Amino acid sequence: MPNNNLRVFEYLSDAAEWTPLVKLHKTVNKFPHADVFGKLEFTNPMGSVKDRIGRHLIRKAIAEGRLKPGDTLIENSSGNTAMGLAMMAVEYDLKCKIVVRSTTAKAKLDALRAVGAELILVDPSLPPEHPDSYNRKVYTILKQYPEYFFPDQHNNLDNNEAHYLTTGPEIWQQMSGKIDYVVAGIGTGGTLTGAAKYLKEQDTGIKVIAVDPVGSVFYDYFKTGKLVKPSGYLIEGLGDEELIKCVEFAYIDDIIQVTNEQAIKYARLLAKQEAILAGGSSGAALYGVVSLLESLPLHKPYRIVTVFSDSGNRYLSTIYNDDWLVEKGIDLQNV
Ligand SMILES: Cc1ncc(COP(=O)(O)O)c(C=O)c1O
Repeated sequence: MPNNNLRVFEYLSDAAEWTPLVKLHKTVNKFPHADVFGKLEFTNPMGSVKDRIGRHLIRKAIAEGRLKPGDTLIENSSGNTAMGLAMMAVEYDLKCKIVVRSTTAKAKLDALRAVGAELILVDPSLPPEHPDSYNRKVYTILKQYPEYFFPDQHNNLDNNEAHYLTTGPEIWQQMSGKIDYVVAGIGTGGTLTGAAKYLKEQDTGIKVIAVDPVGSVFYDYFKTGKLVKPSGYLIEGLGDEELIKCVEFAYIDDIIQVTNEQAIKYARLLAKQEAILAGGSSGAALYGVVSLLESLPLHKPYRIVTVFSDSGNRYLSTIYNDDWLVEKGIDLQNV
């Protein structure tokens, strides 16, 4: 296990790995039989788990001759993959265009512009099949500019491979190979199912639990095989309006559904009780851990790993802002 503090990196993106794993205390003290650890992905250079895939998708494409300095890349992202790609665009002199929902937290949009990304804002209320929707806009642009490079984080299994090669082995080593459950939110599914593939190869007994927001299609599809009509939700980075290739259901043992209120409440608890200031998807992950623990018999000392994907600094004007909660009709009292 390298000591990152002693390492000197050639490129910023080389530092996108070996994030700390930290034991949780007060947020899980109702469950003395469980040891819960959170992987602090916001310590990556651009502030999220997505730096790992930014590096892998771009370096692999360059190595295979699919991309070269001076080219333009385009991706749809809730903001974090965009930051990882913007870092790679600087490293390889690429132009970086990002399709992003106009409701994305302002701090994320400002940060993207600061590192040179060009933003194409889309209306999040458009249905997924609309040519200008978040899911389709990139394809609409690619019709006009087929020469653009599209990493396609939602359907390109190199996303999952990045986590198979880094996140999974890190968790395995940091946990000394003793893991009962891995619990994480799924957006593209790359983090959880890529890491899960590696971890299940080491120990088939490890159970993998996904967390999906109410309004996304993954939960119902996993439970019933049916595609429900998607509806809006406020947890950035998680869920989707349609099925995508990178959510590899074969590596998921169960799915827990989370509401906006539950995710936000648990993100705030994580900040107050552990001083871990993370985003709403991390609150969703912690909620997933707590509801898993509530469902388990109390007879054995479970070791659980979860992933805190990005920093709460990006959401100070949203989920950590009481006026915003009122504006969105979010009441945390009865959660
Ligand atoms: C904040 C945040 N959390 C969680 C995720 C989910 O990670 P993955 O796409 O690997 O499933 C994302 C993905 O964009 C994200 O931005």
